[in-house]
This record gives sequence, C-alpha cells and structure tokens, in this order.
Amino acid sequence: MKVTVVGAGAVGASCAEYIAIKNFASEVTLIDIKEGFAEGKAMDLMQTASLNGFDTQITGVTNDYSKTAGSDVAVITSGIPRKPGMTREELIGINAGIVKSVVASLVEHSPNVIVIVVSNPMDTMAYLAHKSSGLPKNRIIGMGGALDSARFKFRLAEALGCPQSDVDGMVIAAHSDTGMIPLTRLATRNSVPVSEFLSEEKLAEVAEATKVGGATLTKLLGTSAWYAPGAAVSAMVQAIACDTKKMFPCSVLLEGEYGLSDISFGVPCIIGKNGIEKIVEIELTAAEKEQFNANAEAVKAVNNLL
Ligand code: 2OP
Repeated sequence: MKVTVVGAGAVGASCAEYIAIKNFASEVTLIDIKEGFAEGKAMDLMQTASLNGFDTQITGVTNDYSKTAGSDVAVITSGIPRKPGMTREELIGINAGIVKSVVASLVEHSPNVIVIVVSNPMDTMAYLAHKSSGLPKNRIIGMGGALDSARFKFRLAEALGCPQSDVDGMVIAAHSDTGMIPLTRLATRNSVPVSEFLSEEKLAEVAEATKVGGATLTKLLGTSAWYAPGAAVSAMVQAIACDTKKMFPCSVLLEGEYGLSDISFGVPCIIGKNGIEKIVEIELTAAEKEQFNANAEAVKAVNNLL
C-alpha cells in the first residue's frame, strides 16, 4: 500500500506519522513545494522508526510528482491554513488553485488513486476535486466529519465526566464553523442516549463548542490544528488500506442522496478498499433536515465562488 501525503506542514506530517506508526502502509511519500522541507520531515520521521516500531518507508520529495506514481491513496493537505479570526471559506482564493493542480498531478501519475481532501474550505475543495479530476465519486473523499465527530466526542465526554471510549457521536453536513450538525439526538454513552445524562441546554453547549472546535484551537495556537486532523485522516486511510468497511461522516458528492445534488457534503459513509463503498441515508428530524438543507445552500454559495 503506497500513500502520498501532499503538504509536509503540520497536518500532513502528523498524518504521515500516524500512518507510519499504525504500520499498515509499506510506503508513504511526503511531497511539498518548499525545497527540502518534505525530505527533512520524512528523514526526521524515519529516525523514529526504531523507537516507534514501524517498518513503513517514509520518503520526502520536493515538487516531483513522478515520485508519487502508483499511489493507492493520496491525502491533500496543501494550501494555507487559517489564522485566528478567519473562516475556512476565506482560504478559497489561494487554496482552490493549489488543490486543482495537485489533483491533476496526482491522477497523472496514479490513475487509480483514491483522493482524500483535507485542505479548506474542505467541502468546496472536495467539490472542486470532483469537477476537475473526473474521478468516479467513490474515489474522492472530503475529510471533515471524522475530525468534527472526534471533537464532538471530546466535548461529550468532558460534559459527561466519562472516558471518550464510552461515548459515540457523529457530526454531519459542512466542515465549517456554522455549517456542521453535531447529532446530539443520536449520541450515546455506552449505548444509552446522552439525553439521559445531559440537559438540552448542556447538549446545546456541547454542540456549539464542537462547531467552533477548529476556531477555538486556531485562537490558542495562532494557526489551525494538526494532531486531530492528522489522526482523523489517517484513520480514513487505514479504513481504505485494510478494507475495514468502517463508517465515517465524509464529504462526498451527492447525486440525489438526502435530496441533494451537485454538492460535496458531510454524510455517513462506509469506507473500504474502493473508497466510498456506500452512502448511508439516515432519517433526520424535520428540524435537522431544515438545518441540513440550509447549510448545504451555504456550501453551494461558496462553491459558486470557484
Ligand atoms: C480544523 O478544523 C484544519 O479544518 C481543520 O482544524
């Protein structure tokens, strides 16, 4: 299994590290435009191999996509991250051009590649990847919901005072501060609905804290987060590599599912060796559906800026 990670910044390097430590890929190619940067990150990571016990071969390369040839999966983290006070949508001007050219270069050397888009504004970048690459919809996956769901579980466990391993929850819709929907109605603590433990007010607080999870960290860090984004996308790569059929909320091109079309949007998907194996259509309440549709319109408005 060969994985390419485009962008050797904090998210890309974290993703490469987690993939290596999980030891399911034979090789990871880390590519960046900054001379020597990916090579340095790869060498530093390889010097942890004997300490962290992995055999994965991590190689760094500067801007030579021929070295990504034969990739089974490619993760796109390239582009600028947001600064405190910025929305993800404000990055579109710069990141759209980067993502479009990166996708073309990846597909040129790996025609069968499955692409996972991380760059922001992610739903729009994933949509752009669909429109510009012509790849089948199952082979372009936007990573946002997996990260947002991890933040949701963190906040739920914090509110419940319990281990995160006791909590399950999913975030759908857009990967944006206002456009995501933490499904508090379906969240559980060891199979018990969390509404048995938390008031509606507390659950609303948890949902709001989840929505601004990225912005909260950007304010603290001065740039966007990297550990949890890297971990979320590496979990999706593992589901593909090991064909686990794990379900994640992913941004995927909808063609009538959930009553939406011509949009890449966050919905539950089964992930396996073919990328998106199945889009899972769950019943939403009238209020959830109204919010879901409104948030989709907001994403389409950003897509129209492309
Ligand atoms: C985040 O939410 C980078 O969009 C990513 O942290």
